[in-house]
Amino acid sequence: MADAPAPRAAVSHGPPNPSAAPALHVAGLGKRVTLPSGELTILEGVGFEIARGDVVAIVGASGSGKSTLLSLLAGLDTPSDGNVTLDGATISTLDEDGRAKVRGDKVGFVFQNFQLLPSLTALENVMLPLELRGDDDAQSPAREMLRKVGLGERLDHYPKQLSGGEQQRVALARAFVTRPSLLFADEPTGNLDTNTGQAIIELLFAMNGEAGTTLVLVTHDDHLAARCHRTLRLDSGRLVSDETR
Ligand SMILES: Nc1ncnc2c1ncn2[C@@H]1O[C@H](COP(=O)(O)OP(=O)(O)OP(=O)(O)O)[C@@H](O)[C@H]1O
Ligand SMILES: [Mg+2]
Repeated sequence: MADAPAPRAAVSHGPPNPSAAPALHVAGLGKRVTLPSGELTILEGVGFEIARGDVVAIVGASGSGKSTLLSLLAGLDTPSDGNVTLDGATISTLDEDGRAKVRGDKVGFVFQNFQLLPSLTALENVMLPLELRGDDDAQSPAREMLRKVGLGERLDHYPKQLSGGEQQRVALARAFVTRPSLLFADEPTGNLDTNTGQAIIELLFAMNGEAGTTLVLVTHDDHLAARCHRTLRLDSGRLVSDETR
C-alpha cells in the first residue's frame, strides 16, 4: 500500500510497553444524567490524547462541563459513553475498586475547595493516600513533602488551623506524595486571593516540573491557561478547540 501513511516511529520492540502509552487517551466520552424534567447531556463526543509530561489547560464557560470532564478523566466518576485510558489502564470499564486502585497508583487530584479531611492533621492528610494503597512507610515521604511545600513546622495542625493557601499547600503535598503519573487540578486557585493563588500556581508548576508529571488543569484564568502547553476548550459539553502553543 504505497499510499498508506507512514507508521509512527517504533520506539521499542518486543512486548507492548505500558510506558509507551499516552498519559491519557479519551474516546467518544459522554455523560448524561436523568433529571425529573428529562435527560440532560452534560458531555458529548469528547475525544483527545495527552502526551506524557504535557501541561494542558481545560477552559470554557461556567457550566460547559469542565469539572465533569475532569472527574471522568481521573476515574472519580463513570461515563455514560466512551472510554478513558489512563497510562494504559482503561478505567471506564473497571468497577469502583479497580478505579480506586488505578487512582491510588497513578492519579493526584487538587480541588478548588482543598477537600482535606477536617479530623486529620496536615501530616495525616498527606499520609492517607500512601496508607490507603498499603505503602509500608507513609510518614517519611509525607513529612518530606510537607517540608517541600513550606509546612514542615505545621505537621500537627488541623485544616481549620490553617489558612486557605496553607490548606491548598497541604493538598498539593497530598497530590504529589504518591508520585502520580497524572495530576488533575480543578480551579486550584478559585478560593484564594490573587497573591495567594499566584503562589500556589508557582508551587504547583515547580513541583510538577520537578516530578515530570502530566498536568491537566481546569481554569478560568487566561494567564494561567497561557502558561500551559496546550488548551482544550469546552462549549456546552463539546470539545470545540484544541490549541498547542
Ligand atoms: N450530577 C448532576 N446532576 C445534574 N446536573 C449536573 C450534574 N453534574 C453536573 N451537572 C450540570 O452539568 C453542567 C456542567 O457542570 P460542570 O460542573 O461540569 O461545569 P463547569 O464547566 O465545571 O462549571 P464551573 O466553571 O461553574 O465550575 C452544569 O449545567 C451542571 O449543572
Ligand atoms: Mg467546575
